[in-house]
Amino acid sequence: MTGRGTGAPGPGAGAIRHPERSEGSPSRAIARTDLPLPVVRRGKVRDVYAVGDDRVLLVATDRVSAFDVVMAEAIPHKGAVLTQLTAWWLRRLDGIVAHHLLTADVDEIVREIPVLAPHRALLARRAMVCVRTEVYPVECVVRGYLSGSAWKEYRERGTLAGEPLPPGLRESERFDPPRFSPATKAEQGHDENIPPSQVAELLGAERAAELERLAHAVYAAGRDAAAERGIIIADTKFEFGARDGRTLLIDEVLTPDSSRFWPADGYAPGSGQPSFDKQPLRDWLDAERRAGRWDGDAPAPTLPPEVVRATSLRYLDAYRRLTGAELDPAPS
Ligand SMILES: Nc1ncnc2c1ncn2[C@@H]1O[C@H](COP(=O)(O)OP(=O)(O)O)[C@@H](O)[C@H]1O
Ligand SMILES: [Mg+2]
Repeated sequence: MTGRGTGAPGPGAGAIRHPERSEGSPSRAIARTDLPLPVVRRGKVRDVYAVGDDRVLLVATDRVSAFDVVMAEAIPHKGAVLTQLTAWWLRRLDGIVAHHLLTADVDEIVREIPVLAPHRALLARRAMVCVRTEVYPVECVVRGYLSGSAWKEYRERGTLAGEPLPPGLRESERFDPPRFSPATKAEQGHDENIPPSQVAELLGAERAAELERLAHAVYAAGRDAAAERGIIIADTKFEFGARDGRTLLIDEVLTPDSSRFWPADGYAPGSGQPSFDKQPLRDWLDAERRAGRWDGDAPAPTLPPEVVRATSLRYLDAYRRLTGAELDPAPS
């Protein structure tokens, strides 16, 4: 199980009314869904339902996790940002990679799956119907810059997943070329960085080479598109799955939850960079930890409304910066 968000009781009980109206639309943050379809899995953020044998309904809730702990509070608009940004990227990636998205249009979803009609308002913007795949048990991370867990390991040992990197690299330094930096998919706790050779041991050399090639291609396309909007994609995580012998890009793609986004104009290696993701949340939790009020394990402390609001605005801002458009207001 993945933390408190999954333990919330029945339908509606996971809905948190946000104290303020933000960005002009009434917001009702959703921590959990309970739809009349078989549950495949409840992840940290998404509730996954089966649609027949060959499709899944992915519903991005407004749950937020940080340091691998799911918060009790939900973040208004977050699920919509993750789903709509993924759909936006996947439209741009047509021709570069085969992917799982069938539709993220709520009218189409409800037409295809009529039992969902009473849940239309809940599903709007946050749900997508996808090809169901067998998920490869590897997180395909591509790092364009030295940051996060890679920087931590490098600083301590001069390595990445145990393999030596050139000496003298600074925090946030650019890798040229970007590095394929896979990780295990841990059911619980932290994913572990593994050397690319270990992917070949898990999946065979051919499949491993395919995932590495695809991950690089998608990262490069994302990096170039983001650069035009003044954003650096420092690193990002992809998942792939198999369907009828084909490899598909699945899950969320190039979102603030799966990537580090930095403003290009202030970029300066030698320290951490400000990022357009849940940084306000991480900073607040870090301060709680330093003050001895949180031990770093679930349950996390109760988030103050201003942290919830700042995090919500960050997600909306990431969407706006990348796509150049506002997230469509929720249909009423
Ligand atoms: N097309 C697909 N077929 C099967 N599983 C998928 C597909 N796309 C995404 N998934 C899975 O759905 C889950 C998404 O939920 P999420 O909250 O992101 O989980 P996690 O806590 O593992 O990150 C992940 O386990 C992911 O592997
Ligand atoms: Mg995930």
